[in-house]
Amino acid sequence: MEKTKLLYEGKAKKIWNTQDKNFLISEFKDDLTALNGEKKSSEKGKGALNNKISTELFKLLNDKGIPTHFIKKLDDNNMLHKACEVILIEVIVRNIATGSLTRTLNIKDGTVLPFTLVEFDYKDDDLGDPKLNDQHCLILNLVHHQDELDELRRMARKINNILKPYFFEKGLKLVDFKLEFGRDLNGNIILIDELSPDNCRFWDIESGESFDKDRFRQGKGGIKVAYENVLNRILS
Ligand code: TYD
Repeated sequence: MEKTKLLYEGKAKKIWNTQDKNFLISEFKDDLTALNGEKKSSEKGKGALNNKISTELFKLLNDKGIPTHFIKKLDDNNMLHKACEVILIEVIVRNIATGSLTRTLNIKDGTVLPFTLVEFDYKDDDLGDPKLNDQHCLILNLVHHQDELDELRRMARKINNILKPYFFEKGLKLVDFKLEFGRDLNGNIILIDELSPDNCRFWDIESGESFDKDRFRQGKGGIKVAYENVLNRILS
């Protein structure tokens, strides 16, 4: 399968059409952005690392019965996946309070939440990805029916129940992460996008050190080494 026309260029990936309308190719870029694109940089090799990490995590989730768009990794930076209708909701899953949650609700950083929090953000950069409740999602026609919102929450919790213990075994706390979903050609909701340290937060169990994009958000550096560390733990 080969790239034909560029369909879309996002902050961290280019999405390409292929000869078959049922399949797309994601090209993982080295670009790093934060603060809704205000802070920008690039880290050579980051795209290839995220492609490898996402490939491993999609395979793991597929094996555990989570439907995803993943078909196969093509080469260092490219992944072949199903084409689907994107649901414009970012599903945020949180086990430990940090980032925007600590700022908006004044919860102390590092507080272990009494249960896993699942939130919806509107995937709209111009509006700054505002928080959504179920009624907003229905009014904006982001989903067809309340059942689809329930399904997003159910899948998000199931994914967390797989990934949280998986990373704990590897010495990392899965603090929070962002998921995106789409509808495949049969209308089934499947996991899309990527799963990488760009959209997950990982804290070392012993030291509390961040192994994710927070290093970039906080201007700490060592991004590539941190992402390599996550990949090596996954492969171990
Ligand atoms: P959050 O604390 O809401 O955002 P911020 O990065 O502004 O502190 O992030 C929660 C998790 O979701 C975190 O792992 C990063 C991820 N995320 C994204 O990948 N993209 C996004 O647009 C947002 C808002 C979060």
